[in-house]
Amino acid sequence: MATITVRTPDGETYELTADAGAVLRDVLLEAGLSPHGRYARRVNCGGRGICATCGMRLADPPAPSTGTTT
Ligand code: FES
Repeated sequence: MATITVRTPDGETYELTADAGAVLRDVLLEAGLSPHGRYARRVNCGGRGICATCGMRLADPPAPSTGTTT
């Protein structure tokens, strides 16, 4: 279980919990926090990675686990 701090463009902050491996888009939607803009809330690909309307900015992104050289 992980705790996620979400800051919205409106300046509000929410603390959410999610299982490891959960899809962030789904966690936000279940909490009533849509990652989509006004129009994309109605028209999007449902999280299949096609429309790029659910992009989020991570304040502290994890290091990539693939594609790195040592
Ligand atoms: S809803 Fe996320 S890429 Fe389409």
